[in-house]
Amino acid sequence: MTIEGNEFTDREFRRGVWRQTATTVALITAVNEDGQANVMACEWAMMVSHSPMHFVVSVGPHHVTFPMIEQSGEFGLSFCSDQQANLSHISGSFSMRDTDKWSLAAFPTYPGKFIRPPLIEGSLLNVECKVISTQPLGDHTVFTAEALWVKYDADTSPLIYHAGKYFHLGEQVPKE
Ligand SMILES: Cc1cc2nc3c(=O)[nH]c(=O)nc-3n(C[C@H](O)[C@H](O)[C@H](O)COP(=O)(O)O)c2cc1C
Repeated sequence: MTIEGNEFTDREFRRGVWRQTATTVALITAVNEDGQANVMACEWAMMVSHSPMHFVVSVGPHHVTFPMIEQSGEFGLSFCSDQQANLSHISGSFSMRDTDKWSLAAFPTYPGKFIRPPLIEGSLLNVECKVISTQPLGDHTVFTAEALWVKYDADTSPLIYHAGKYFHLGEQVPKE
């Protein structure tokens, strides 16, 4: 069934468009002025420049994580392995506003070298990020960050997120 149109004010129409996207998921970690850390799931996170190495994340301003990134100018980005669906689910379904997410699941963390937020152990790729630009964009804000330090595990597979469900990476598709 093909659907087309521009009913962008219709929530169901927008949801239909979103359900066609497939992404990886990263866990953003950030700290507030008291040094308290938070973690949230972010599907809109990606590398956008090799050298210098830059990443972008798109974060809604109502999330507790938002002012933490804005005020501190730094965040951790831990791209989920396919063993971390539960961490994504927990960190993306609850807000620090009313829940201690750290107590809901065993988030294995390790300290950053250059940033205050901890990073999530067991991820595909960890990036210590310093914000270099903040761009309000529609109902989200895009933070562009420079990578200060990266760590990756070449033996893990990414977690794939599509239509609200998690998947393993599928079989390679031949180019020809
Ligand atoms: C898989 C998944 C991906 C998400 N991706 C994003 C995203 O890209 N940007 C965003 O602003 N929120 C995203 N969210 C929603 C936030 O993670 C969620 O609202 C979270 O509770 C915010 O936590 P906080 O209020 O403690 O910051 C996602 C949620 C899930 C479950």
